[in-house]
Amino acid sequence: MDDDMIEIESKLKKYNQEHLLEYYKKIKDEEKKKKVYKQLQNIDYKLIDNLYKNTKKEIKEDSAKIEPIEYWDKERLGSKYDFYEEIGEKAIREGKLAAVTMAGGQGTRLGHNGPKGTFDIGLDSHKSLFELLCDGLKEASKKYDVDIPWFIMTSRENNEQTVEFFEKNKYFGYGKNIYFFIQGQLPMVDTEGKILIGENGLIKEAADGHGGVYESLVKSKMVDKMKELGVEWVFIGGVDNCLAKMVDPVLMGLAIYKGVTGAGKSVVKSSPQEKVGVFCKKNGKPTVMEYSEITTEMAEQRDESGELLYGESHLLCNLFNISAIERMGNSTLPYHSAFKKATYIDKDGNKVVATSPNAYKFEAFLFDAFGELDDMVVLRVKREEEFAPVKNATGVDSPETARELYNNFHNKLSHKHK
Ligand code: UD1
Repeated sequence: MDDDMIEIESKLKKYNQEHLLEYYKKIKDEEKKKKVYKQLQNIDYKLIDNLYKNTKKEIKEDSAKIEPIEYWDKERLGSKYDFYEEIGEKAIREGKLAAVTMAGGQGTRLGHNGPKGTFDIGLDSHKSLFELLCDGLKEASKKYDVDIPWFIMTSRENNEQTVEFFEKNKYFGYGKNIYFFIQGQLPMVDTEGKILIGENGLIKEAADGHGGVYESLVKSKMVDKMKELGVEWVFIGGVDNCLAKMVDPVLMGLAIYKGVTGAGKSVVKSSPQEKVGVFCKKNGKPTVMEYSEITTEMAEQRDESGELLYGESHLLCNLFNISAIERMGNSTLPYHSAFKKATYIDKDGNKVVATSPNAYKFEAFLFDAFGELDDMVVLRVKREEEFAPVKNATGVDSPETARELYNNFHNKLSHKHK
C-alpha cells in the first residue's frame, strides 16, 4: 500500500467513513477505481464532518444587527443619470468590463433534463437562456464597439453538455469571447453523516453553491485572463433571468464614482412572501438575507411611507471590482446545508431511489462574501425591464411568466425605436 493510501485510510477511520474504503477495495473496473481513488484523496473529511455536525445543531438566534440598506433608484437619478452613464460607458468602451454567468445548475425544477442554460422558454425564436443572455452581450459589444468577454461557470455535472451545446450552436457567433470554468463540488452525506456512493459508482458529489464562484475564478486562472484583457470590473449573474442586463453603464458609473468595489441591482419585492433574497446590512456590512432566513415579522415591516423596510430584492445581478474578486476568492465562506432527495448505492451494492429527502448537500452563497467589500451600492431598477427569472415549471417564475415579461419588454423597445 502506498503512503497516500495509508493516509487516506487513517483519515477515513478518523472521520467514520470506513465504508468508503470497503467499497473502494471491491471495485473491479480499473478506470473507476482510479477515479474513486482521486476522489478519496481530494475530499476534505474534516470539513464534511463539521458540516454534518452543524446540521444537528440547533440554529442559534442570530444576534447580528440587521438594518435596511441605502439604495439609489435608477428612475430617480435625475440629471445624475447621464453623468453616471457617461462614466460607465467610457469604462465599457475601454474594455474594462467582463461578464460571468453562473450556470452550474441543472434544470431539474423546470423538468428540463440538461444544464439550465440550455432551456428553451418557448419564445417564437426558441432561443435558450444562454442565447438570450448572449444576445444582450452581442448588442452591447456592438453599441460600445468593444469585445466583452463572457466567462461561464459550469459544474462537473454539466460541463461537457454545456460545452457541447455551445459548439452545436456555433457559440452564437460570439465564440472568441467565451471562456468556460468549472465550479467546485462537495460530497453528499446521509442522515448518519456517511458519504454516499452515487449511481455511477463514484462518490456522490454535488455543486458546492455559487459562493465558490470567486475562488473558482481565481483558481482556474480566469482572473489572470481577465487582467490580461484589461478587465477591471466583473458582472456576475445567474443563468435563469432572461432579462438580465449584464452590461449596465449606469450601475458601473455609479460604482466607479462612489469609489466602491461592489454594486448590486434590486427591484422592489412584489410581496413580503416573494422567494427572493433582500439586500440589507449586517453589523454595518452589506449582505443579502435569503428568503429562507428572513422572519415573517421582518419581511412584513414597513417604513412610514408604507414601503417594505427589507424590500430591495437581490436579482443575483452584481458587479465587482477585480480586486474584490481576488480578495473574496481567498476568503472562506460558510456553507449552508440543504436536505435533498439523493439516489445512491447502499453497502450491499443495491441502488436506492429516494422518494423523500434523505441526504445533505452543502452550498456556499456568493453574497456571504459581500461583508468583505468595504461598501457596496445598491441600484433599484424596474422589474419589468430587468427581472424575468425562470425557476419553476408552472406558476410563479415559470417559462410562461418569463416569456410574457420578455415579450412585453422587447415589444416596447421596438416601438420606442420605430
Ligand atoms: C437566488 C438567490 C436569491 C435571489 C434569486 C433571484 C441564492 C441562494 N439565492 O435564489 O437571493 O433573490 O436567486 O432570482 O442564490 N448556481 C450555480 N451553482 C450552484 C448553485 C447555483 O451556478 O452550485 C446558479 C444557478 O445555475 C442559478 C443561480 O446560481 O443561475 C441561482 O441559483 P438558485 O439555486 O436557482 O437560487 P434561487 O433559490 O433561485
